[in-house]
Amino acid sequence: MTDAEALKRQAAARALEYVRSGMKLGLGTGSTAKHFVELLAERVQQGLEVVGVPTSEVTRAQAESLGVPVATLEEHPVLDLCIDGADEVGPDLTLVKGGGGALLREKIVASAAQQMIVIADGSKMVAQLGAFPLPIEVVDFGVAATRRAIDRAAKAAGCHGLLTLRRRPDGHVFVTDQGHVILDAAYGVIPDPAALALNLSQVPGVVEHGLFINLASRVILAGANGVTVLDR
Ligand code: 5RP
Repeated sequence: MTDAEALKRQAAARALEYVRSGMKLGLGTGSTAKHFVELLAERVQQGLEVVGVPTSEVTRAQAESLGVPVATLEEHPVLDLCIDGADEVGPDLTLVKGGGGALLREKIVASAAQQMIVIADGSKMVAQLGAFPLPIEVVDFGVAATRRAIDRAAKAAGCHGLLTLRRRPDGHVFVTDQGHVILDAAYGVIPDPAALALNLSQVPGVVEHGLFINLASRVILAGANGVTVLDR
């Protein structure tokens, strides 16, 4: 395991300390969340009773294959805790998410949870959001027009940058679990995340964006000097 993977696993292991038997859990997506599901599965084998609501088909398949009971958000519309990774963690625990393409389900699941805990290696902590391109999930109808509207909305929030249609490694357009496409916005810096979030949410064709504001209540960061827990 590389150093970075070991740090992700450390953060995931710490998050397990907040899990209790009987909890309904949102299960995140990405390489850090994958470590959490693996560790959770070990505890389930030892008798921990939880049910997980996965934020992606990939996480659903992983959880099922490891014997973690899964359910849908329709079955459990209120969750005790959601544990997920992030691409960036900024001031006030504001996040950029969606690098794995699951931002829409991730935001719905996190919003349904009484608490969201983010797990990450220390490199994800930033003074200002925006170096990681912001994922924006859009419907595939009229993408050219949607791009122009996103540019106007972003400009009004002080953001400028290229929008790139996300592709899979094989060159095909990446399609989300909900059947949409993703534009990755290279803004570099997002001076006012709340203003950008509001403006983007008003653009027709935008289904969701990767700014998570007032959702994470705790962030667990694992770095070379140990694990740090930040609370909002
Ligand atoms: C997926 C996500 C992930 O949580 C985010 O991309 C972080 O992934 P990783 O743990 O692999 O760095 O938002 O949509």
